[in-house]
Amino acid sequence: MLRTHTCGELRADNIDDTVTLCGWVDSTRDHGGAVFVDLRDRYGKTQVVFGPESGLVEEASALRSEDVIKVIGSIAARPEGTVNEKIDTGAVELRTSELEVLNKSKTPPFTPSQQELPGEDLRLKYRYLDLRRQQMQDTLVLRSKIVNTMRQYFDENDFIDVETPILGRSTPEGARDYLVPSRVHHKHFYALPQSPQLYKQIMMVAGYDRYVQVARCFRDEDLRADRQPEFTQLDLEMSFVDADDVIGMIDGLVQRMAKEVLDLDVQLPLPRMTYDEAMERFGHDAPDLRFGMELINCSDIAEKVEFRVFSGAVSNGGVVRGIKADGVAADFSRKRIDELTEWVKQDFGAKGLAWFRVEEDGSLWSPISKNFSDEELAAIAERMGANVGDIMFFIADSWEVSCKALAALRKRLGAELSLYDPATMNFSWVIEFPMFEFDEEEQRWNAMHHPFTAPREQDMPMFETEPHSMRAIAYDLVINGSEAGGGTIRIHDSAIQSKVFELLGIDAETARDRFGFLLDALQYGAPPHGGIALGIDRWVMLFGGLENIRDCIAFPKTQKAADLMTEAPGGVDKRQLRELGIKTVDE
Ligand code: AMO
Ligand code: AMP
Repeated sequence: MLRTHTCGELRADNIDDTVTLCGWVDSTRDHGGAVFVDLRDRYGKTQVVFGPESGLVEEASALRSEDVIKVIGSIAARPEGTVNEKIDTGAVELRTSELEVLNKSKTPPFTPSQQELPGEDLRLKYRYLDLRRQQMQDTLVLRSKIVNTMRQYFDENDFIDVETPILGRSTPEGARDYLVPSRVHHKHFYALPQSPQLYKQIMMVAGYDRYVQVARCFRDEDLRADRQPEFTQLDLEMSFVDADDVIGMIDGLVQRMAKEVLDLDVQLPLPRMTYDEAMERFGHDAPDLRFGMELINCSDIAEKVEFRVFSGAVSNGGVVRGIKADGVAADFSRKRIDELTEWVKQDFGAKGLAWFRVEEDGSLWSPISKNFSDEELAAIAERMGANVGDIMFFIADSWEVSCKALAALRKRLGAELSLYDPATMNFSWVIEFPMFEFDEEEQRWNAMHHPFTAPREQDMPMFETEPHSMRAIAYDLVINGSEAGGGTIRIHDSAIQSKVFELLGIDAETARDRFGFLLDALQYGAPPHGGIALGIDRWVMLFGGLENIRDCIAFPKTQKAADLMTEAPGGVDKRQLRELGIKTVDE
């Protein structure tokens, strides 16, 4: 090694030791006769002093931010009054006797220690500089710890780590595929895996019993703060299990991770709620359970009122539901309410936002209250459990719009009104999702999870009669209102698999062409099986208390799926395209 110690290692015990350090110049202070350098590596910072006796003052004063240097010297206690309690090495300094500049740095566009964060595009273009920042380093260390703890847990539980192909056939997770043209087979394409779903099921047919993989997945979909086109799953599959077994295995993992990573004690089993209950109480299939503010259904009261906005919504088959913020009516000016109203209209397609506040005498006041009788207002107040000083918001609309708008409003108010401590962690399960959802645009059914998901036994007769009511043996892990994982028990009977394909409008020929290998495998002794995949990037976000998935990934893509450092995606030369038999067209 070029060094004897790291920059985070030296303590008072090392006083009088002669040591060699290597690292980056974090900052320099030129005090005329002496130069002070904070030398940095990923372990920490050490103060390095070039005093008059070193003969190195001139050379040291030429050092610049991000130069890479090697220094040899002896460790001394810092003079009284200059001890830095904030850093681990703050009791000592290195008095330099030799300096070697290993590499000069150009003037960086930003420095890792600067106070204000540079713009994200600049951070992504110069990612190597951004990754030198303490917070990025902490996050990548956290990520490494999360992945290692997961691997260890599954190894202890007899899972076998198997790598599955990146170049393969399209896997149906519902997003667009990234395609890779084949040079050898013109007009043919590999698809990058949206998940290792089919391979892991085949591993169960092959008798491996418990499979696990830290798997890279690729989905060409619209990106958001918690979505990347390329992301990582902790993917697993188990044989001879039911939903309780898979959920129980992940419960154990959550408890272990919370303890080892955050030193939190989590009680098991984690709470479970059905999808129907989640939508009724929270309007969302991944509810944030760190706070209450549940949705309350007032349709039966609203149905009878004169106010057409309310009664009309119900008679059109919709609902009137509301949420209540306790004791904060005074904080809601007309301007703030108008802003919320515009927002639910613009972003969630609501037609408006009705509201009531509870006055000192317990009566409800609103610009629309004159449309209601006193009895009706009293009935609403009672249903909502309203008290003096509360404010309530209502959406009268279809079930879907009321879910979307109220869930978003609940989330926004929860944060704005500080209804929970952002440092708390809440883990829960949402189970029994619908098997199918109807795509109005395309006028056809889609699988809500994926087409290999088993329906509940008791719902089997509903295939022909009411597919929308069929519930899947599916389970999502929810952390603080984010979907942190999802899985299902699979269909292991090829006859049921064919029925699902039929309902999804995948004809026998297409099914054969796309998944023939799985359909065949199901006929050669497929055990009952099921599994789950956890979104590792999201776990890092949630465990690290971060807002953006890009901060959890060493080399992420932008919202437009570009890598600003390497400038991928990029053009290719004509010869490459010719070999692939590809001609590009201008739009
Ligand atoms: P699913 O599609 O629900 O299931 O994905 C599992 C988990 O992966 C994470 N995730 C993502 N993270 C970042 N960016 C994305 N674009 C992204 N998409 C998904 C989420 C999600 O819960 N094969 C099935 C699993 C199974 O049935 O076993 C699957 O992929 O945290
Ligand atoms: P309008 O009768 O459209 O002027 O609306 C009267 C009030 O009811 C306004 O405050 C609107 O924001 C609200 N409102 C209108 N439509 C709805 C709706 N579908 N759900 C909830 N509130 C609504």
